[in-house]
Amino acid sequence: MTKKGMKGIILAGGTGTRLLPLTAVTSKQLLPVYDRPMIFYPLNTLIKAGIKDILIIVAPDHSGHFLNLLGSMFEKFGVHISFMVQKQTRGLADAFILAEDFIDGESTTLILGDNIFEDDFTEAIETFEKGGRIFAKEVADPERFGVVEFSSDHQVLSIEEKPAHPKSSFAIPGIYIFDRAVVEIAKSLIPSARGELEIVDVHKNYLAKGLLDVRVVKGAWFDTGTHESLFEASQFVREHHFARNFHPMVNDAIQEFNAEFKKIVSLKK
Ligand code: DAU
Repeated sequence: MTKKGMKGIILAGGTGTRLLPLTAVTSKQLLPVYDRPMIFYPLNTLIKAGIKDILIIVAPDHSGHFLNLLGSMFEKFGVHISFMVQKQTRGLADAFILAEDFIDGESTTLILGDNIFEDDFTEAIETFEKGGRIFAKEVADPERFGVVEFSSDHQVLSIEEKPAHPKSSFAIPGIYIFDRAVVEIAKSLIPSARGELEIVDVHKNYLAKGLLDVRVVKGAWFDTGTHESLFEASQFVREHHFARNFHPMVNDAIQEFNAEFKKIVSLKK
């Protein structure tokens, strides 16, 4: 049983310019990853971990598409999904400011809408008490990501965003668990040189208070932000029959949605 009150946020806004022209007329997080839109992967990660109250933050342009797809898909399964529009891409930490009322003083798991995980986060979420919990995954190209350096006993030593000379080969994947303090921390941040409220500044704030821990992610992880990684993710999903990694309830909800959709289409004929 997941800790009472843990909230889930999927950050699925942004402009997706690195994936043009794929993202010219739809949102990055609605692009296919093999047999289902990308958004289902982070959604599955949260639902598998037992989170029942989920906020999806989207960009204004394609917000209706998210609502049409997911608006009522999970309600009968006891998972409540709400939506919020982020008008400007103010950075990942902006999610906590936008979601202040939704968070309502509880702890939150934030997952990025373009991150696909094979791992199961149930235990990491259930054992979370306070402060911040981030994750680490060894990669060949850490300079593309937030990077965490930690000791052999998993004490976080340093955090950097896309460093030219990474101090470790461990990227910080896009899933984070924070206690209620995250809202005030996010509000206190100053935008970085690229004009964004940086998630690594949230990590650094918890680190300075001695309240940040790190766990190594098991299995595959994809940040599908480039054509290459999007293709690799689809290939992995297909080859590893990733649908089996989905919570049966999510697969059922998709099947029911498809059946309902076909019925409506046939009535229109
Ligand atoms: O994927 C993990 C990495 O994600 C971390 O290692 C980095 O520390 C973190 O900064 C982030 O880096 P990215 O360069 O991948 O972030 P990106 O700007 O691509 O945004 C990630 C997702 O969040 C993407 O799906 C778009 C969405 N987003 C982004 C921003 C800046 C929003 O919805 N709103 C925003 O304001």
